Amino acid sequence: MTGSNVFEKIDHIEFYVGSAKHWAYFHQKALGFNIIGYSGPETGVRDRISYLLKQGDVRLIFTGFLSRTSEISRHVEMHGDGVKDITLKVPDINETISFIRERGVASPSSIRTEKGDYGSLKKSVVPTYGETAHTLVDYSEWESDLPPGFISVESEGGKESVQKIDHVVGNVEENRMDPWVDYYVRGLGFRQLISFDDKDISTQYSALKSKVVEYGNRKIIFPINEPALGLKKSQIQEYLDYYESPGVQHIALSTDDIVNTVRKMKENGVRFLETPASYYENIEDRVGKIDEDIDVLRELNILVDRDDDGYLLQIFTQPIGDRPTFFYEIIQRKGATSFGKGNFKALFESIEREQAKRGNL
Ligand code: FE2
Repeated sequence: MTGSNVFEKIDHIEFYVGSAKHWAYFHQKALGFNIIGYSGPETGVRDRISYLLKQGDVRLIFTGFLSRTSEISRHVEMHGDGVKDITLKVPDINETISFIRERGVASPSSIRTEKGDYGSLKKSVVPTYGETAHTLVDYSEWESDLPPGFISVESEGGKESVQKIDHVVGNVEENRMDPWVDYYVRGLGFRQLISFDDKDISTQYSALKSKVVEYGNRKIIFPINEPALGLKKSQIQEYLDYYESPGVQHIALSTDDIVNTVRKMKENGVRFLETPASYYENIEDRVGKIDEDIDVLRELNILVDRDDDGYLLQIFTQPIGDRPTFFYEIIQRKGATSFGKGNFKALFESIEREQAKRGNL
């Protein structure tokens, strides 16, 4: 087998959190998701509460715990609220697992079959950085979009404005980026896209290195960062200190109208990183002609970058939970296939201002 279709797409991303109800409420009211599924004691699941949310093709699960002895409780105590699983949909789990096993790098667990009202669902878990995992899920004998244990719920929902997951970024320790890139490339059949080095992405104080792996013609994109030496603490190191391990740093959600998406989210109380007004001076010299009104971008703090294929607009939220770990990026691609390298400096200076406020720079 060639391995060109052993993974179909990101099925959903599951977070372990202190209160699933409040994470669901925030994502519904502030970010425009619809709550479409619920699982808990009322549905026969005794040890946890989960909400399934959807917006466009993006599906998220927030899971909270009901007892102090729960694995979820231990995870939240150690890491704070964060991503536990980037679940990948696979067309045929037996083929995917033999493909991975033949490559001899990653160790998928043996297949577990969950039975329910909609048939049987096959799963296997492939570990990745920190305590993060990729559960592989095969829906071929399961006739529902809802995982086992979930009932569908009708929610008022928010007005949808993002459509897809563009990429999911992991932060790993110093000198661990290359081994993890190798894990995805040699172990799981991904392809490496492009690389930055710390000269590309550094400010006066802190730096990072980043490489990107992708699968299936960019259907799944995972950038991986590690801290690099600067005069002061790298923002990646601040993440690792607070998360107490490697983990998911951000999920980029793509929209086809970033101005409206960001305006709406701001009205709903979502807080974004600020960009200095100087960023917008001479912006057309840097990125050329763009369709958007620069004054509107300045007002909303939206960043712009150009590569050989086109340009992109992007903005980053403040951390979503209490610890300065996980956040979202909102991105609109207008041809560009890169990740906003030209914005890294402006972005990092902005992150560092927040880091300094926390006394960690
Ligand atoms: Fe990103």
